[in-house]
Order: sequence, then structure tokens, then C-alpha cells
Amino acid sequence: IDLTTATILIFGASGDLTARKLIPALYDLWSEGFLSADLPIIGLARRSKTDEQFRDEQRDTVSKFTRTDTVTDEKWTAFSKRLFYREIDITAESDHAKLKTSIEAVEREVLGDIITKRVAYLATAPSLFYPAVNALSQAQMVPRNSEEEWLRVVIEKPFGHDLQSAQELSQQLSELLGEDQIYRIDHYLGKETVQNILLFRLSNSIFEPLLNRNHVDHVQITVAESQGIEHGRGGYYDRSGALRDVLQNHVLQLLCLIAMEPPALFSGEEIRDEKLKVLKTLSPGTKGDISEWAVSGQYTAGQSFGQAVPGYREEERVPADSHRETFVAMEVMVENWRWEGVPFYLRTGKRMPERVSEIAIQFKHPPMNLFTTVECDGDICSLVERKPNELIFRIQPKESISMKFSTKRPGMQYQIQPVEMDFAFEDAYHKSLPEAYERLLMDVLRGDSTLFTRSDELEAAWKFVTPVLEEWEKTGQTPEPYYAGTWGPSSAMALLNKSKRSWRTPS
Ligand code: BG6
Repeated sequence: IDLTTATILIFGASGDLTARKLIPALYDLWSEGFLSADLPIIGLARRSKTDEQFRDEQRDTVSKFTRTDTVTDEKWTAFSKRLFYREIDITAESDHAKLKTSIEAVEREVLGDIITKRVAYLATAPSLFYPAVNALSQAQMVPRNSEEEWLRVVIEKPFGHDLQSAQELSQQLSELLGEDQIYRIDHYLGKETVQNILLFRLSNSIFEPLLNRNHVDHVQITVAESQGIEHGRGGYYDRSGALRDVLQNHVLQLLCLIAMEPPALFSGEEIRDEKLKVLKTLSPGTKGDISEWAVSGQYTAGQSFGQAVPGYREEERVPADSHRETFVAMEVMVENWRWEGVPFYLRTGKRMPERVSEIAIQFKHPPMNLFTTVECDGDICSLVERKPNELIFRIQPKESISMKFSTKRPGMQYQIQPVEMDFAFEDAYHKSLPEAYERLLMDVLRGDSTLFTRSDELEAAWKFVTPVLEEWEKTGQTPEPYYAGTWGPSSAMALLNKSKRSWRTPS
């Protein structure tokens, strides 16, 4: 791997994302030999802080979140000499010139010269995305990208809060940056198991021929979290909700990777072209009212792993009469030749019984049912309905791929018993998987935007979910309550029960 020497600028360096994700990911990349020896990392924010204070703060969180090893004094000294902090107010015009001079001063200190390749990571509040890029532009730090000189701007979510605001932000940024300079993060795409979906589909000849309307009954995508609202996130979350926060981005991206056609070439543009086609063909699961195919829920006080936990409305910075959804489930269709008539059931929520993300493809039954099916606990068996084949991609935790099928239960009768065959990444590869942010930062440094969202993809995703948001807003609908520690409201169950299907319980 070619190690690029570039300067990494982190706007919003006092925030949680910098401490919990970005610096630990950079540390782990460095620790595994993926960062050039001369690469400076400069934190930028409004608070006043010295380099030493910044380094000390980051050491605490890196020690907690590193994946690779113990942060010894020796390793930390070697790594942290590349960490710098500069106080900047990007909204103040008077600070624009200071931005350039202070960055160049650090580069001269580290390398003896100005570095003309830079990554600007916007880990700020969304309202500061444009001001940050504008500050870079005013400071004459936005070159046209070339081999020798480039600026790549990484933008965190949320990219807009509906179709119109996403388009406005795209428009504003496009006045200052080319599309090849913008890297919109959806961290799910950086997860190893998410990248694996496409590689698995396209490198095995036994599964791909089955992934279509002739063989698949339906697909379930679950992104469940056991946590509630993390400290300090109540304000953000109450403006956002489960549909904007997770379904519009992470869940729809998972759907794209399962549903898309194989690209002609394995290149960023071709893959994103195919994903875009899927997003454009998304349609409601049922004609008629939105409530027939999209349901929302909000958790009330309950239990999480045996502990009493508060309801959403009791969380810090959440209004006591909030109507914001902490759970959403949808039945959607991908209206194309391959998937016509196959429902995709999507769900995501906070305070579910477990933290688990998975995609389960449920196949059709064989045409005739010739046997009885049993499920047994030791020697005690009971008759059950026949079980379909399932292919399950477990995204996290306990990353795996498993296959459910039926076998003859040994004995004197012709009885079928469902069994499971499992492939666990940890057992096969014996090492921890890289964190999503490691992979994504690495890709920005090497200029590979395959795992980032293009503006047309993002707009197509907003276009699909915005009518639902607008309808909920217009009718002032109240999400259905569900107890913390359960799998969501009863209307989510009803969404599948009406076609005699049911949600899997991930195990
Ligand atoms: C983020 C959301 O994008 O994804 C969070 O803003 C959510 O609310 C998180 O908790 C889930 O990510 P992961 O990687 O923990 O599944």
C-alpha cells in the first residue's frame, strides 16, 4: 500500500466523534503501518487548547477505543508527536487567514515544507459544513484536484434533513468543491461485513443465481440497538429520529448492496450507478395510506439487560411531549425485473433487546411439503410448520454468514429438522476486524470514493423517505409506544403478519 503524505485537518476537534472514532482509527492505522511517518493531524475548534492538552485528552480516549493494542508511553509519544491543535472560529472572517498560516506553520515544522495534499474532515455540527468549506476557500486552500495538489473534504452525516435541505447543501458545496473532492460518509459502508456483501455475492456462483423473485420470498433488514439516547445526543436525536438517523442512510445502503445488479467493473462509479438504480426503483410496500407500509414507535420505560431504563421522553434534552420516533419499520418494494413482488422489510430502533444488525434473505418453500417438520430439545420434539431456507448476513456483532436448511432427523421416521450452518469471521481469520473509520480514512487518503455516498444516491434516498416524514409531520402522528427492551411496537409485527410472515428474532 502506497502511504500518502497528506495533512489531516479535523474541524470539530473538541467533539465526541473526534475522540471516540477518528483519533482512535488514525492511531490504529498508524499502529498497523498504514500511515505515512510524516503525516500531521491538526485538530481545529473554537476552544483554546495547547497541543499538549489536546494530546493528553486524546490519549485517554484512544486507550479506551483502540482495537490494536495497549497504548504504552513509548507508542503514544511516537504517535502523538503528529497531533496538533489550533484554535479557529471558522465562522469569523478574521480567522480565515489565520487558518492558512497556522496549518502551513505546522506543516513546515513537521516536514520542513508546505504539504499540498490535505484531507479536511468535517466532524462539526451540520450547520458548520458550509462555513468550514467556505473558510478553506477564503483561505485559498481549495485547489483544483491534481496529482500533486489536492483537497478532499469528508462530510459526516446528517447531510440535510430532507430532500430540499440536502439539495441546498449540495448546491452550496458544489459552488466551492468538485464532486471528486467530496467524500460523504456513511460509516456502515466502511464495515468489513458490509463490504463483504457484494464480494460474497459476486465471487460465489452458488448463491447469486437464487437472489431474485423466482426464489426469494422476502428480505428482512434489521439495525437494532440496545442503547437509548447517548449522553449529549438528545437534542440532535429529537430533531432527527430513527428514519433520518439510521434508515435513510445505513439501512437503505444495506438494501442497495443486496438488491443491486452486478456492476460491469468493480469501480466506485459503476457500483454507485447500480446502487442509484435500486434507490430510484424503491416504492411503498402497499398502495394506499403511508401507515399501511411505514410504522413508527417510541420507547417507554422498560428493562435493558435486566436493568430498569427510562423512556425516551425522560431522556436528557428530550421534550416531555416529544413525538419523535425511536423506531421505524417499513415494507418496501424494489420495482425492477429481478425483484418484482418481493417485499423488503426494514426496521431500526433504539432500546431493542440486543444490538444486532443483519440481513436475512428468506427463500420460498419447495413446491410440495412431503414431510413433517420437528423442532427438538434433546429427545423431546414437537411438530412445527416447515421452515424456509434462510441466508443471513450478520453485520455485527459476532460477524458471520449463516445458512438455514432442513435435514432428516436421524431415526426411524421421515422427519425434517431445521439446522444452521455458520461461518464466523473471528473463527476463520483469528483477528479483530478493522473499524469502519479506519477503512474510510484510508480510502480518503488514497482517493478511493467507492465506499462513500454520491450526491445523486443521497438525494434518491431522501426522495424516498421525505414523503413519509412530511406525512408524519402534517398529520402530527404519534409514534406507537413500545417498552424499552422489546422488539418494537405491535404495528411493526402487523406489517408482516398481514401477509402471514413474521420478523426473525436475531439470535
Ligand atoms: C449513527 C447514528 O449513524 O449510527 C447513531 O447516528 C447510531 O444514532 C449509530 O447509534 C449506529 O452505528 P453502529 O456502527 O454502532 O451500528
